[in-house]
Amino acid sequence: MLLPAAMAALLISALAYWWLDNGPHEIFGTLMFGLLGWHLTTNRRWFLKLRSGRYDARRWVVLVTHIWLGITMTVLAITSVLISRSVLSFAQFTNNVRVVELHWFSAYWVAIIVAVHAGTHWTRVMTVTGNVLRLSPSPIRAGILRLAALLLLGLGTWSFTVLGVSTKLMFGYSLEFWDFTSAVSPFFAHWTVVMAGVAVFSHYAMICLRQVDKVRIHKIEGQT
Ligand code: HEM
Ligand code: HEM
Repeated sequence: MLLPAAMAALLISALAYWWLDNGPHEIFGTLMFGLLGWHLTTNRRWFLKLRSGRYDARRWVVLVTHIWLGITMTVLAITSVLISRSVLSFAQFTNNVRVVELHWFSAYWVAIIVAVHAGTHWTRVMTVTGNVLRLSPSPIRAGILRLAALLLLGLGTWSFTVLGVSTKLMFGYSLEFWDFTSAVSPFFAHWTVVMAGVAVFSHYAMICLRQVDKVRIHKIEGQT
């Protein structure tokens, strides 16, 4: 679980381009891609099992999310190589403004889809965390976590507007950049809460889909 957490932290750090400066930005981004290679190797079984088993609604959602994530991540990686000024400074393929635009555009989409992706696997995250911490089921803890999820959903919606994420996702050029000279930590807090809010939403959407699948299977069994 530390691996995806580190990747998410590096991703959010890389978004703070105007605070970091170019060198650290490229190093954080490159580290994230390095860890991504490890993450994909660890989870290679998922790719190997793609052609086996039945596809229900949830499995389709996970597949589409992974394809979407794969495309945006690839665009981010390719544009990173093309515009690099520090890590690959010897190459300096281009400083074309269109490629730079594609770079930040794909970066914001990656942030949102990674959150959707984490949300679709949240049950597994909770199970593994529960096992590691040797926690037994507790209705009080479950109630507190559900309340925290609701809070994150509300805060995430607010932070989404504060950061102007919808403009960034629609390829809209926004003059409202985060002013790092006045505050730094709220930038990270807002992005963390935006991603957590999206993850909560996708986790509960998966729970709803599970119910839909159960009803469908129940109906099919009733007919046979
Ligand atoms: C986690 C991965 C990454 C994310 C989320 C990310 C995101 C961003 C963002 C948001 C900007 C600011 C664009 C703007 O507002 O003008 C930017 C700029 C930039 N990034 Fe990345 N980036 C990542 C990885 C990389 C890597 C690996 C490299 C190179 C090795 C790179 C090279 C650059 C350069 C050179 C700029 C400056 C472009 C310019 O203004 O001319 N990035 N990136
Ligand atoms: C910052 C980037 C990412 C984060 C934070 C992240 C997070 C996670 C988490 C929390 C899990 C569940 C726990 C685990 O198995 O490790 C997971 C699983 C997985 N991730 Fe990612 N991920 C990221 C990028 C990607 C990308 C780009 C892909 C490629 C499409 C990908 C493919 C997978 C696969 C195949 C699984 C296993 C799914 C399964 O067995 O059901 N991840 N990821």
